[in-house]
Amino acid sequence: MLLELPYNILVLTSKGLSDAAFEELKALASEPEWASELSDLQNSYGGVTCRASAKGVGLLNFKLRSASRVLIKLVDGVRVSSKQEVYEAAQSAQIPLRWMTLQHTFSIDAVSLDAHNISQRYLAMVVKDAICDAFREETGGRRPSVEKQNPDVKVFVKLEGGRLFISLDSSGRPLHERGYRRETRHEAPLKEHLAAGLLTLSGWFAFSQHLRKHPDQKFEWSRIDSKSPLPEKKRKIPASVPFSGNFLDPMCGTGTLPIEAALMLCNRRLRKHAADFAFSKLVPFSSEEVLSQLRLLGDQLGREEFESSEVRERLQAYRESFFPSAEGESQEKPIVGSDHEKSFVLEAESCARAAGVSGVVHFQMKDFREATQACSGTQIVMNPPYDKRLQVGLPEGYRELGNSFKRLYPGSAAWVVSGDSQLLKTMGLRPTRRMPVYNGQIEARFCQYVMYR
Ligand SMILES: C[S@@+](CC[C@H](N)C(=O)[O-])C[C@H]1O[C@@H](n2cnc3c(N)ncnc32)[C@H](O)[C@@H]1O
Repeated sequence: MLLELPYNILVLTSKGLSDAAFEELKALASEPEWASELSDLQNSYGGVTCRASAKGVGLLNFKLRSASRVLIKLVDGVRVSSKQEVYEAAQSAQIPLRWMTLQHTFSIDAVSLDAHNISQRYLAMVVKDAICDAFREETGGRRPSVEKQNPDVKVFVKLEGGRLFISLDSSGRPLHERGYRRETRHEAPLKEHLAAGLLTLSGWFAFSQHLRKHPDQKFEWSRIDSKSPLPEKKRKIPASVPFSGNFLDPMCGTGTLPIEAALMLCNRRLRKHAADFAFSKLVPFSSEEVLSQLRLLGDQLGREEFESSEVRERLQAYRESFFPSAEGESQEKPIVGSDHEKSFVLEAESCARAAGVSGVVHFQMKDFREATQACSGTQIVMNPPYDKRLQVGLPEGYRELGNSFKRLYPGSAAWVVSGDSQLLKTMGLRPTRRMPVYNGQIEARFCQYVMYR
C-alpha cells in the first residue's frame, strides 16, 4: 500500500479555470515517474486539491501553468464561533519550528467572509498572536518578526461560513509572473495563468502533450461535451476538431496567448530553480537532502524541454502524416500573433525572446480582416476588446470578426473570450462550446466556433 503523502495541497486559480488546473494536475499525476508524488486529486469548490510529497510540491510549482498559487493546507475548515476558537485552531497548526524558525520573517494574509462576526484585521491579529504565543512557549519567550513586504513565510487565513482555513504559501511570487513581461504600455494584457488556462480549455495543452508523447498518432479533440449549447439534431458539424498544430491570435496585444501556447508546445517552464519558490524556505523543505532532490527535479524538467527546431520538426512530420493537403500552405513557425498596433507587436516580440520561444512564434503587424497564411486545422484563440479600443466600431467589429473567420479560416476552430456576451452574439456564428470564465473581476464568456471547410 502507498504511504500517505505528507502535504495537503490547495491549488488556486482564477474563477472558471479550475477545470483547466485539474486537467493539468491529472496529466502530471498520470506520468509514471510522478504518480507516486501526487494523490487524491479533486476538482472542488474554491480550487483543486491533492496530496503531495515534497517533490510533488516542487512539481506543482514548476509545472502548473493555469495555477496562480500553490498552498499547503494546515487547518482545513475547522468550525469556529469565537475568537478563542480561532486562536486555538491557529495554535493547532503547529507552525513554530515545524514550519518556520525564529530567523524567518512572516506575514498574515487574512480574508473574512464572515466579517459581521470577525473582521479581516481582527482575524489576522488573532492568528498572528496565536503563532507568536506558540513560538514563545517553544523558545523561552522569543518570537519571529512580522514583515509585510517581502516575508520568508506567508500565512493565508480564510474564514468562511464559520469555518477556518489556514495555509502556507509554497509559491512566493504569484505563478502568473513568469518573468518574460516587463513594463507594458498595453491597457489590457491577459494574466499569463489566465491565458494558459484558456489554452488548456481550448484543447491546446492536450495537443501539446500528445505531440510530446505520441507524435505518430493523430490527435482527436472532441468538440461536443455535456455542456454544449447545441441540441443533438442541430450538431451538423464534425464531432471532433482538427488540430494541425498551427495557432493564431489575430489581436495578440503583448502576445500572451501565442507565448503561452509556445511554452506548452516546447514543454518549457519559466522559473528554473527550486530556490525561486517560497517552499524552499519552509523548514520541511530546507534540509540538504530535500533541497538536492528538488534541485535534481528542476534539472530533470529542464531536460524534458524541447528546442524550437525539435518542435518544428515534430510538427512538420505530424502534418505530413495527418494533414497532407495542408503542406505548402503551412508557415515556418507554427504560432502566429498579429495586432494592428506596431508597438504591441514589438513588445510581443521582446516578450517571446525573454521567454525563449521566438523560434516557434512569429508576430506581425496586421488588421484582423487581412488574411494570415494558415492551413486548415488552425486553432485561433483570442480576446478582442469589447469597447472603443476595437476602433472598427461596435458591434460591426464583432460581425466582421465572425465574417473573417468564415472567409479566411475554413476547416479551423476559433475560441473567443469576451466580457460582453451580447457582442459575441453579433458575430453571427453559433458557438459549439461556451464557458463562463473570469478576467479579474469581470465575468466573461469563452466560446468555441468551428468553421466548415
Ligand atoms: C484585449 S487586447 C488583447 C490583449 C492580449 N491578449 C494580451 O494579453 O496582451 C485586444 C487587442 O486587439 C488589438 N486590435 C484592436 N483592433 C484591431 C484590429 N482591427 N486588428 C488587429 N488588432 C486589433 C488591440 O490593439 C489590442 O492589442
